[in-house]
Amino acid sequence: MKAQIENVKQAALAAVAAAGTVQELGEVRVRFLGKSGELTSLMKGLGALSKEERPEMGKVLNLARTEIETALEQKLAAAEEREKQARLSAEAVDVTLPGRKPVRGTLHPITQVREDIVRVFLGMGFEVAEGPEIESDLYNFQLLNVPKDHPARDMQDTFYVNDSFVLRTHTSPMQARMMTTRKPPIRVVIPGRVYRSDDDASHSPIFHQIEGLAVDKYITMGDLEGCLTAFAQQMFSKDTEIRLRPSYFPFTEPSVEVDVTCAICGGKGCRVCKGTGWVEILGAGIVNPAVLEMCGIDSKEYSGFAFGLGLERIAMIKYGIPNIKLFYENDVRFLKQFNGEVEK
Ligand code: DAH
Repeated sequence: MKAQIENVKQAALAAVAAAGTVQELGEVRVRFLGKSGELTSLMKGLGALSKEERPEMGKVLNLARTEIETALEQKLAAAEEREKQARLSAEAVDVTLPGRKPVRGTLHPITQVREDIVRVFLGMGFEVAEGPEIESDLYNFQLLNVPKDHPARDMQDTFYVNDSFVLRTHTSPMQARMMTTRKPPIRVVIPGRVYRSDDDASHSPIFHQIEGLAVDKYITMGDLEGCLTAFAQQMFSKDTEIRLRPSYFPFTEPSVEVDVTCAICGGKGCRVCKGTGWVEILGAGIVNPAVLEMCGIDSKEYSGFAFGLGLERIAMIKYGIPNIKLFYENDVRFLKQFNGEVEK
């Protein structure tokens, strides 16, 4: 039995010496000292020995056990330390490395242009309002002097919700909403989304407009021109000029279309302005007295001017963007080019 114990002990010590990792040492412990380990089995065999032999063999066994345990403990402490160091150096963080910059989002170019335009008009004493995108036929057309079955309805391809409601085709219905609910003086700009059944490189079924309305005593075409000149010069550049061309809108009389000197070529003529030096930016006019009256404002006492412009169109002119669809694809390579203030 003694020789057996010695053999097991030697085998155990050899196994300890050969084990390198915490895990291997654990396995050695189970193999020799575990519940059915090799040394444990020998201990179980003590009962079969004679009374005389038993204490002596017990002692030898205990000594062997202690020796194996000591060897295990020593190796284990070293292995644990080694593995801890390895883990620490693997997980080490170089605090001197420069940080990774978070990617910053940017305001959409349409949002930037809207904010720029609104800021210019706030500076001239206008307030800002918003209105519904599902609009009644009454406000979208009738109060703007476009009765049912009027040919001017064809100027805007309309999405009908039902017989009496449409997706607003322009922000102009907000003129009627302001005039029917306010008393002059009124000075307001109304940004918003509008809808038309129209789709090509410069038209989208959903796009954005800003409406402007000023109603007061003695408002003239001169006020409109002065106001829009100030706007164009702040929006594009100090030496931008505007020109008014006669046009037709049912809700203004007289009506004009307004051009600005081309922001890309400065008026010399280029691809954007098709060689003319001018680009059309908006429709405007003197509020039709019939509209004032329908909205409950005395046209003998008051007059007004109104204008409406497309935000996409302004952004396309300002940045030389060839296709309106680029605004809606939200490709970050496009969007991140507008990562600052719009240059003045
Ligand atoms: N609502 C017109 C459109 O969508 C634009 C417009 C023209 C607005 C003349 C106005 C205006 O306020 O006076 O085409």
